[in-house]
Amino acid sequence: MSDIQPPQAFLQGNDIDLKPMTKEIFKKLHPWMNDHRSRRLARHVLPVLEETTASWIQEGKLTPSGVVMGIWTKSQHDSASKNIGFVSIFNIDWINRHGELGINIPNPLYWGQGYGQEAVKLMCQFSFTELNLEKVTAYTLEINIGSQKCMERNKFQKDGTLRNHQFVDGKYENMTVFSILRDQYTA
Ligand SMILES: CC(C)(COP(=O)(O)OP(=O)(O)OC[C@H]1O[C@@H](n2cnc3c(N)ncnc32)[C@H](O)[C@@H]1OP(=O)(O)O)[C@@H](O)C(=O)NCCC(=O)NCCS
Repeated sequence: MSDIQPPQAFLQGNDIDLKPMTKEIFKKLHPWMNDHRSRRLARHVLPVLEETTASWIQEGKLTPSGVVMGIWTKSQHDSASKNIGFVSIFNIDWINRHGELGINIPNPLYWGQGYGQEAVKLMCQFSFTELNLEKVTAYTLEINIGSQKCMERNKFQKDGTLRNHQFVDGKYENMTVFSILRDQYTA
């Protein structure tokens, strides 16, 4: 992934930056989208095709319904900075001012290093202080401990459980609904 010239950071964090997502960047990430370890948690039940991902990203532009940004590791030498996944706000309801957060770091090699937590934090900051949203929601499988911790560490609260909501690897699993309000974010 280091052969792509990394775009400028759009939002800067400590260990990661969020940068505009392009088709070219997605192309490099795409093979990991079909890795069973991550796709079962991200609920990609059908094979993810390159053209499908291209339509998700809309070249990083704010669309009427959402925005997606690439998660890039930091490096003192920018060329060694890597795109490891993406985080998005989608299904934005501009009248009632809420949106849904989605995140995917598809290569398990990068899990458990704090990148997910920080990406959620930066996306919440963007949603509340720039998009002027009132609430951000997130749906995670109950078995997805890493994802749930990302939300809890960022002050999301558990709104409820959708019982037997997803069929994963031969059995039904619960889905947890999380949300954070603007007041909780700033508290
Ligand atoms: C879910 C996901 C975004 C988490 O990102 P991450 O970078 O691994 O998360 P972090 O390293 O910030 O970890 C957050 C917490 O979860 C823990 N954690 C991470 N992965 C874990 C796992 N597989 N099992 C148990 N705990 C885990 C971390 O130890 C950390 O806990 P701590 O704060 O007590 O130290 C990432 O694993 C991923 O993209 N998975 C595949 C797709 C997916 O599940 N998307 C989310 C759909 S809702």
